[in-house]
Amino acid sequence: MRMVIIGSGNVAHLFASHWGKRHQIVQVISRHLDHAQTLAQKFHATTAGKIEEVMTDADLYLLAVSDDALPKIAAKLRVSDQLVIHSSGYRPMAILHQASCHTGVIYPLQTIRKGVTCQYPIPLLIEASDPETRKKIRELAQEISAHVYEIDSHQRKYYHLAAVFANNFVYHLLSQVNNFCDDHQISFAHLFPLMQETLQRVKDFPAFTQQTGPARRNDLALIQEHLIELEPYPDIQEIYKMFTQQILKRYSS
Ligand SMILES: NC(=O)c1ccc[n+]([C@@H]2O[C@H](COP(=O)([O-])OP(=O)(O)OC[C@H]3O[C@@H](n4cnc5c(N)ncnc54)[C@H](OP(=O)(O)O)[C@@H]3O)[C@@H](O)[C@H]2O)c1
Repeated sequence: MRMVIIGSGNVAHLFASHWGKRHQIVQVISRHLDHAQTLAQKFHATTAGKIEEVMTDADLYLLAVSDDALPKIAAKLRVSDQLVIHSSGYRPMAILHQASCHTGVIYPLQTIRKGVTCQYPIPLLIEASDPETRKKIRELAQEISAHVYEIDSHQRKYYHLAAVFANNFVYHLLSQVNNFCDDHQISFAHLFPLMQETLQRVKDFPAFTQQTGPARRNDLALIQEHLIELEPYPDIQEIYKMFTQQILKRYSS
């Protein structure tokens, strides 16, 4: 297949690195031309800075741009009957309906960063406008991962919201914890077995049943001492208060 990649970020790099082995990436379009060039040069593809400059004779168009920019860019894309897909967790497939009669979505339910190899499988949640397109999208997705699941736009947006909690907020929380450890010259790495045990428990048991800690034990005096300790860290103090209140409430009955 001849492919046009629109976007040059994390997901564009992931898809291009897999598909580029068996297909021809013919053009990379990105608003910052130097970003487009970084990706395009790996595949000897041409570059463009605007969607209006898109090559119209490719077989597949992947839109891997930010969720805010996606509807605007999708509305400007017009091809005839070629395959047009996006990779967003939240945007519906319907935003592509003006671009082509064959559309779909491949949403990687995994945290994707340019230059970082995933240690775990990447579940790919796919959707397609028609059976013929579904077959093509499934085959293309299977070139990236063996874990391909069909869902609809409605289900995908809930997966995306769940992923924000399961991944994005966890990164934020752990980054704050890392800073806290550094400030007090204690080892963040000593917490890794605890983090790994937490994740393993959640796989083996309902998370609710595994809760421990001061709020679970209703140790209100200790909680006050923690809050005083956290006064120099208003951001994590706020998170501490919110989680503590919710845990106290959940286990109070
Ligand atoms: N990363 C993940 O973990 C992940 C996982 C699953 C799904 N997704 C989805 O995949 C899509 C891309 O995510 P990503 O992580 O690859 O994002 P990213 O690395 O931040 O890259 C975003 C791309 O969008 C372009 N862009 C941003 N704002 C734009 C605007 N106003 N007009 C035109 N282009 C614009 C950027 O172009 P320039 O670089 O040229 O500025 C860049 O190529 C999103 O829909 C995201 O939800 C991401």
